[in-house]
Amino acid sequence: MSVNDLSVRRQEKAPRIIVAIDGPAGAGKSTIARRLAQRFGLLNLETGAMYRAFALKALRTGISIDESAPLEALAAHTSIRLEPGDEGNRVLLDGEEVTGAIRDPQVSDAASRVSVYPAIRAWMVRLQQELGAAGGVVMEGRDIGTVVFPRAGVKIFLDAAPEVRGMRRFDQMGENGAPPAVQPEEVIRDLRARDERDRNRTDSPLKPAPDAILLDSTHLTLDQVIHQAEQIVLSKLSQ
Ligand code: DC
Repeated sequence: MSVNDLSVRRQEKAPRIIVAIDGPAGAGKSTIARRLAQRFGLLNLETGAMYRAFALKALRTGISIDESAPLEALAAHTSIRLEPGDEGNRVLLDGEEVTGAIRDPQVSDAASRVSVYPAIRAWMVRLQQELGAAGGVVMEGRDIGTVVFPRAGVKIFLDAAPEVRGMRRFDQMGENGAPPAVQPEEVIRDLRARDERDRNRTDSPLKPAPDAILLDSTHLTLDQVIHQAEQIVLSKLSQ
């Protein structure tokens, strides 16, 4: 995505701030990021969607996702674009819209696997730094406050107990009418496995930046989390 694409959507008078939101799967990062973006006129960039899009391509291609070299070769011929919108990002993989396809549980798992490789991370981080360079963004992921934008104006680390995150994910799965095809225990188990990998990889493991504000939503409602996150941004903007 070019910086020009981005400037179309960023509100004219939006602050140039970078808001980094990191945390484990199912902590509510996307919802909070979207709400902050709407409230402050910022672009909302979901970096997990980029890893997911690449993982989808690797799965479709049938290459091994447990070795770096084939993935690096694939990355050299892959274009990933994020188009920010009010309801989230549209994701384009080599020009094809994959916004829905990347939400498949198999892709979630593969995204976590391909993201352990330093060469893949370096490529993604470069793209993300380009996307956020002009500021006026809420960027969410695992390493935004630690690696992608270590000097971000606001850093929030959003967390919640694994059971709570798993149940929220499970409830979301039933929101489109059809009952979820899996049991809640399976969702919690998959989420724990992904957390484990994301937290323990050698390159850029998921962890709060030393200067991140920790926001634990285990015992909070969505509105309470949104309120606290907004207060954090407001207090930074008023400095
Ligand atoms: O946020 P998500 O669930 O869509 O992310 C999918 C996977 O991508 C996640 O398990 C780890 C990886 N990821 C990452 O390593 N770094 C990021 N900044 C975002 C996601």
